[in-house]
Amino acid sequence: MKHRVLVTGGAGYIGTHTCTALLDQGCEVTVVDNLSNGTAEALEQVKRLTQQNLTLIEADIRDRESMHRILREGDFDVVVHFAALKVLTESLSDPVKYYDHNVGGTAVLLEAMQAAGVRNLVFSSSAAVYGMPETVPIDENAPLLGSNPYARTKAIGESIIADQVRADPRWRAVCLRYFNPVGAHESGLIGESPLNVPTNLMPIVCEVALGKRPRLQIFGDQHPTPDGTCVRDFIHIMDLAEGHVRAVEWLMQNPGQNCLNVNLGTGNGHSVQQLVNAFEEASGRRIPCEIAPVRPGEVPSVFAQADLARDVLGWQAKRPLDAMCADAWRWASRARERARPRGPLCGFRLQIDHFHVQRAEQPHHLDRIARVVAMAQLVIGLLCVLFVMHLHDAPRSQMELAVRHLEFAKRRQMAELRSAASIDPLAEQALVITTDRAVVELFIGLIGQIPGQAALPVAMCLNGGGEIEATCRLVRFLDRTRDGRRRWGD
Ligand SMILES: NC(=O)c1ccc[n+]([C@@H]2O[C@H](COP(=O)([O-])OP(=O)(O)OC[C@H]3O[C@@H](n4cnc5c(N)ncnc54)[C@H](O)[C@@H]3O)[C@@H](O)[C@H]2O)c1
Repeated sequence: MKHRVLVTGGAGYIGTHTCTALLDQGCEVTVVDNLSNGTAEALEQVKRLTQQNLTLIEADIRDRESMHRILREGDFDVVVHFAALKVLTESLSDPVKYYDHNVGGTAVLLEAMQAAGVRNLVFSSSAAVYGMPETVPIDENAPLLGSNPYARTKAIGESIIADQVRADPRWRAVCLRYFNPVGAHESGLIGESPLNVPTNLMPIVCEVALGKRPRLQIFGDQHPTPDGTCVRDFIHIMDLAEGHVRAVEWLMQNPGQNCLNVNLGTGNGHSVQQLVNAFEEASGRRIPCEIAPVRPGEVPSVFAQADLARDVLGWQAKRPLDAMCADAWRWASRARERARPRGPLCGFRLQIDHFHVQRAEQPHHLDRIARVVAMAQLVIGLLCVLFVMHLHDAPRSQMELAVRHLEFAKRRQMAELRSAASIDPLAEQALVITTDRAVVELFIGLIGQIPGQAALPVAMCLNGGGEIEATCRLVRFLDRTRDGRRRWGD
């Protein structure tokens, strides 16, 4: 399948996983995102993961002029529309903002699509449109009883799309009603990382496992369910992503006016307690829980009737609860290392290499002295880094401190540096402490040759005196140069 796909909100949780699945199927992907809750770094990881390119356009879907331009110039076959605000509680306190982004944004998108002649759409809807269903499993014909502003914005979005399809027979759309997406890509390179305090269950469980929260609150254990805790239809994020690929294929293969509403769920419910047990098993961490009062409007059991997706789209969820937990944990424990910045060093996976260049012309005993001096410099340099991390309150646990002492003769530099640079393909930052400027030049050249590491910033700290000052400068330098590759002194 080689389609040109515009993905709105593609830098977010579901968007990044769907971009991965689309790229894996050979699609050309362009993302438009205002980066309010997604990051360009996540899309860099998508590129690294798929070894494919994609284009990110930073724009707001409510910006009419930008959206018209993007669609006019893009020559897209289909749009996958994720961009929206999604925090239910926030939608209660600021409903107008939700209508503006989710409804207003969708209207602008459809207008720009129509003007550009792009008439195939996959829309992110939600099981929230069903509100508090009276029976389970829920099928697509259940009444839409969205019980909060967020849910209503999704139901209105579906209505706008259905009306547009009715009005113009050239349009086709699939509205996907997601149940409870959880987990992360199997690689642990992308996952869910809300910029604000998480409100979904799995990110909260991960925070408890990481010690960021003391315990998990479970809202009620006397519900009419097998273990008394609420039952939800948790679905692995990669299953969900693949559902989008199937929806795109279906749109492209089934010409003719159509607007389809489809549940994306497993068709099976798991209780909150079952999820906690599976997570403990997968992570080896205990999740302390406390039973809190039932929240108003809490529905004991919600899960999908997933037959339509199977019969029409040929899609079925296949990853079990264990995989959802194992993948969520893999991502969370890595994400901790790559956490968003809190201090100048946080958010960096820090790779420290000490390169000591052994000079061929040095007499033997001087060489030995030079090695001792180099070792001492390494230890002092490390202590300085730890000291600065401490000063900036950088949690050491967030760092992967890969310390290696490489000694090599000039003639072996290329091989040694190449293996050093590729040892950690996930490193976003490399810190080279070296006594030789030529080593840095070499390192910069090598990093440019490693796929996916082209934007890897490299810094050089000339050791050998003034280590604390140099390390502080280095930290400030790294802090300033997250996004580009620059050299010490630039
Ligand atoms: N995550 C869930 O549990 C869930 C469940 C059901 C439905 N959904 C829907 O799926 C979609 C994606 O959800 P997600 O979990 O990936 O959310 P997310 O917040 O991680 O991703 C949404 C992305 O849209 C971007 N965005 C928001 N408003 C924008 C605007 N006006 N212009 C351009 N970009 C904008 C954000 O920066 C973010 O990258 C949303 O429409 C959401 O309502 C999510």
